[in-house]
Amino acid sequence: TPQRAMLDRQESLSRFPEILPYPLYNKSLEIFINNEWQDSVSGKVFPVYNPATGEQICEVQEADKADVDKAVQAARLAFSLGSVWRRMDASERGRLLSKLADLVERDSVYLATIESLDSGKPFLPTLFVDLQGTIKTLRYFAGYCVGCMMSFSGLCVCRAQWNFPLMMTAWKLGPALACGNTVVLKPAEQTPLTCLYIAALIKEAGFPPGVINILPGFGPTAGAAIASHMGIDKVAFTGSTEVGKLIQEAAGKSNLKRVTLELGGKNPNIIFADADLDLAVEQAHQGVFFNAGQCCTAGSRIYVEEPIYDEFVRRSVERAKRRIVGSPFDPTTEQGPQISCEQQNRVLEFIQSGISEGAKLECGGKALGLKGFFIEPTVFSNVRDDMRIAREEIFGPVQQIMKFKTIEEVIERANNSDYGLVAAVFTNDINKAMTISTAMQAGTVWINCFNALSTQCPFGGYKMSGNGRELGENGLKEYSEVKTITMKMVAKNS
Ligand code: NAI
Ligand code: MG
Repeated sequence: TPQRAMLDRQESLSRFPEILPYPLYNKSLEIFINNEWQDSVSGKVFPVYNPATGEQICEVQEADKADVDKAVQAARLAFSLGSVWRRMDASERGRLLSKLADLVERDSVYLATIESLDSGKPFLPTLFVDLQGTIKTLRYFAGYCVGCMMSFSGLCVCRAQWNFPLMMTAWKLGPALACGNTVVLKPAEQTPLTCLYIAALIKEAGFPPGVINILPGFGPTAGAAIASHMGIDKVAFTGSTEVGKLIQEAAGKSNLKRVTLELGGKNPNIIFADADLDLAVEQAHQGVFFNAGQCCTAGSRIYVEEPIYDEFVRRSVERAKRRIVGSPFDPTTEQGPQISCEQQNRVLEFIQSGISEGAKLECGGKALGLKGFFIEPTVFSNVRDDMRIAREEIFGPVQQIMKFKTIEEVIERANNSDYGLVAAVFTNDINKAMTISTAMQAGTVWINCFNALSTQCPFGGYKMSGNGRELGENGLKEYSEVKTITMKMVAKNS
């Protein structure tokens, strides 16, 4: 219950000073290979920051190519014919995944606390959205094992992202392990802490050594070594389209490893005049501002039908002005900081481009507070489709509102994007809802709701939003190969 969670939270906050550095598993700041924590081969470490204050939390061992080689060797061995993992019954893999889900549930307050600290995500949504999403995903894929899954593809590499570090870890670990792969996981350099804590839970759950290896490190070093490694069969990546292209290129130039990519979005949200206006305003607001706008699904292009445009803008601005920005550990906070100083500057630069290209700044637009990487909730009206703020992924708390007149016009404009991750439509006319849903070039379409993700439903993008799908049965299939075995039967004469 919410009350119980609040109590847990109070408790975790009162323990807060002692929570760091990791009283339970103080080794969790090191590289995890073969179920052992180890220092990096180079001896290098890197700092991890709290984006709400800009202060350093701790240092983590920094993996590079030599550590990637070690991890690949361990994962290869764990996958070799006759290994414990290869001989293990599928249902036993399911049991281990279930056990991991139980341990994440047991430690969910602690995990949500370090996730908030490391990423700046408000604590309560982290507990209810990220932790629940993580647990459900692990259980869902555990269930697939019990449902007799027998497919091995090899060694997968997964890349968790900083906007949903823990949940992205589960989205990748769940199907990879259900299919019997072994895994090397590199968390984003901005947010390695929860992923490293999961290492301790993996060991406690009883996964055999080498099945899951976790390597904190940077993109151009550890990341690039992974993308071009000859001993890796598949890479699953979540991040920018720019880096997605680099990974696909490196795969092509090395061993043609399978690549699935979950990249950026510039997602249209279409509001018809017949929609429930209160619902549409609130959902459109949450759809772009959730997680401080740092969502690949952010509904950042809002197309509003002409008769309600002015009223929609007025209410959206009023809602944005009421949005509470503050400490991730204050229970009333709706929005925490951006992940880094770099991202904060990038978003502020986008806002300046909107102003100079002639969009109308209705509210917000500035950095907030004396420390930390906060930005005011920002709304632009009178946005034209050719402006940068309407074409590029901002990844910040910035809402773009545009006007449309006809359904044909809005379909064309909504689809006129390099991206195609998600789309949404608000209307009470089922014909309009179905026409838009059919027409959208997007992997997911929401009708009268937003960000309604579920573990059972495949998620992924058209066009430059990536390739492949995560979650659901489609997500599982991305982690297995298809093999045909044909045997000649020789009829025996009696
Ligand atoms: P990024 O795409 O540059 O970095 C993401 C990951 O890729 C990190 O783990 C990094 O270590 C790795 N990486 C970087 N260079 C690499 C290389 N050459 N080879 C292999 N791996 C490499 O994302 P960044 O810089 O953190 O954010 C930039 C923009 O990316 C954001 O403003 C946002 O637009 C987008 N983004 C999209 C996300 C999504 O959920 N689709 C998540 C995070 C960022
Ligand atoms: Mg980058």
